[in-house]
Amino acid sequence: MNYRHAFHAGNFADVIKHLALVSILIHLKKKPAPFAVIDSHAGRGLYDLTSEEARRSGEAAGGIARLAGLTDGPETLRSYLDLVRGLGAGRYPGSPLIAARLLRPQDRLVAIEKHPQEAQALGAALAPFRRARLAEADGYSRLPSLLPPPERRGLVLIDPPYEAPDEFAQVARAVADVHRRFATGIVLIWFPIKSPAAADAFCGEVLLAGPRKLLRLDIHVGAADDRLAAAGLLVVNPPFGFADDMRAVLGVVAPLLGRDGAARARVAWLAGGE
Ligand SMILES: C[S@@+](CC[C@H](N)C(=O)[O-])C[C@H]1O[C@@H](n2cnc3c(N)ncnc32)[C@H](O)[C@@H]1O
Repeated sequence: MNYRHAFHAGNFADVIKHLALVSILIHLKKKPAPFAVIDSHAGRGLYDLTSEEARRSGEAAGGIARLAGLTDGPETLRSYLDLVRGLGAGRYPGSPLIAARLLRPQDRLVAIEKHPQEAQALGAALAPFRRARLAEADGYSRLPSLLPPPERRGLVLIDPPYEAPDEFAQVARAVADVHRRFATGIVLIWFPIKSPAAADAFCGEVLLAGPRKLLRLDIHVGAADDRLAAAGLLVVNPPFGFADDMRAVLGVVAPLLGRDGAARARVAWLAGGE
């Protein structure tokens, strides 16, 4: 386990993933019924963009820093920017902190993190939130025992480091299992696009899990040395209106995130539609 998210926090791919997370949470909060968020690979929750790692990679400069001048936009974008800015300069929230901050008293977060140091930092970041629980564990093996959540509503976020050569296959198996146990649940999956063919094959594998609705979102920021140039999201059972919301959000942020001109973004249904 060499992966350290501190190098990547706030980069273009993090920004898009976190905007999708905020959009889903806003949707879930439209009904008073409680929901659960389960984050299988949660990270440390709060990142210092002035840290040695963040400065060395400089990735946030091509991500969250590009949105600094935005003052308006769709609700999802405004909520996300309010949350990030509320933490103060040089700090960036990870997915469990975003979820914890947006939960209502009736909702619940389980954040799973395997790396002991990251888990310790995550415990500190989540300490103020009564409805958030940290599990220091392997995300893949802990997920089954948490599903379906008693609330029968909610989101599973699967955002692993894709370090292992078989991680695409492992994620596809995990999504199939999550969907079998919690067929009505929303599942948000992040993936890197290093090889378009491998990314397409992965999306095909997830489709084999049989979700009635599956949405794919890609963003390409343009190649630059060996840095990641594209990333994607898959959303099983996206909430109604999510696709249009993300199109509207991308309409504002994609022009700011490209390395050489605007980033290219695409939102496409792989199964079902609205
Ligand atoms: C991409 S980062 C997560 C970022 C986080 N979801 C966010 O958006 O802020 C992946 C995290 O998974 C952790 N990790 C790696 N293998 C894991 C496993 N098998 N189970 C749980 N966590 C794992 C890593 O330590 C790392 O913190």
